[in-house]
Amino acid sequence: MWHTIPIDKIPEEGKVKRVIMNGHKLCFATINGFVYVLKDSCPHALASLGRGHLEGDYVVCPAHRLKFSMVTGKDKDGIGYECTIYETRFKDNAWQIKLSKDKFGFW
Ligand code: FES
Repeated sequence: MWHTIPIDKIPEEGKVKRVIMNGHKLCFATINGFVYVLKDSCPHALASLGRGHLEGDYVVCPAHRLKFSMVTGKDKDGIGYECTIYETRFKDNAWQIKLSKDKFGFW
């Protein structure tokens, strides 16, 4: 189901941001005007990617510095780690994100 992303949740160009929407913990990034979203949980040891920073199209995990593509979710070094990616689109004058269902509680 598509959800409109509140404008205040969208990071400025070249930045990442930790966002919770409908119970989903997400890492948002704005790259060349496009909003990309990964699950805010590093596949290496679960650190918050939204607390990292961008290097080009890659978010750098703040814990051990692995880099993940905001576009594909895959790690830069080909180790085999892969982040969950979320589909986004610009429609009706707003960014939207596709969330499978609302999540509540701990994860
Ligand atoms: S937890 Fe992200 S690189 Fe280790």
